[in-house]
Amino acid sequence: MTMERRTTASDPAPTAGQAPGGRAAPAVRLDGVCVRFHTKTRDVTALSEVGLDVAAGEFIAIVGPSGCGKSTLLKLVAGLLAPTAGEVRLSGERVRGPRHDIGYVFQRAALLEWRSARRNILLQAEMRGLPPVAARRRADELITMTGLDGFADAYPHELSGGMQQRVALCRALLHKPPVLLMDEPFGALDALTREQMNTELNRVRRETGPTVLLVTHSIPEACYLADRVVVMSPRPGTVTEIIEVGLPAERDYTETMERPEFREAAGRIRTLLGSVSAHH
Ligand SMILES: Nc1ncnc2c1ncn2[C@@H]1O[C@H](COP(=O)(O)OP(=O)(O)O)[C@@H](O)[C@H]1O
Ligand SMILES: [Mg+2]
Repeated sequence: MTMERRTTASDPAPTAGQAPGGRAAPAVRLDGVCVRFHTKTRDVTALSEVGLDVAAGEFIAIVGPSGCGKSTLLKLVAGLLAPTAGEVRLSGERVRGPRHDIGYVFQRAALLEWRSARRNILLQAEMRGLPPVAARRRADELITMTGLDGFADAYPHELSGGMQQRVALCRALLHKPPVLLMDEPFGALDALTREQMNTELNRVRRETGPTVLLVTHSIPEACYLADRVVVMSPRPGTVTEIIEVGLPAERDYTETMERPEFREAAGRIRTLLGSVSAHH
């Protein structure tokens, strides 16, 4: 990959963390992003002209029909995939390859069966060569923060699905990434566990402060957790609408469900998703 940078006076290359005008650059920016996949049998346009600015510390939920490019969008931000057209920037810096300053959580916890919860979390430190003593301290902090005290030495088969996802979340947060990407992290959990995980994630997020992009199929989950919800169209995925949820940072789950801001946002998203599926 080349490191080309345009440095003309009219278009100075932004330095990390700064937009051209000197304002703080968005934590995540997608600009005119298109992704096309070429396979032996067909060409697929997964994303078309996607633009999105996410402020530092903001929590964005992404909803949309299956196959509209939600996972593709997260992979672009992580630098695991390059856009066919357009660009992706993290704090003003163009993404040109796999990024080490992100955390990633998937639907399946993907824990190593022969390692305890703590040692699964510490895998992140080992892969990055982080100082072991500080990493262990950080792991124990996260274990407490996510309510895993007493399970640090348990093996994955001894943990419930919810606990396994907590371990995956701790592993993703170990290196204090400024950006946390979550791809349907609670999709395999039962409804009650999912609500508990939503409450936990909201608290952990407020305590640790990363910018979050969460892909979910759950409208309540999106509205409860996010500052803004991005609604995407069916393939080729575009941003149909961005909904500001407008709830206070301190959010009790049950109380939030009753609030007019929540009902309004959830209703709007349901209408948008309903109207897109009605046409497909
Ligand atoms: N590596 C790939 N090669 C070919 N097609 C792909 C690849 N990854 C994703 N796609 C296609 O791109 C579209 C979007 O996929 P994806 O981002 O996984 O959607 P979502 O996460 O919204 O369900 C789908 O049609 C999928 O089949
Ligand atoms: Mg997906």
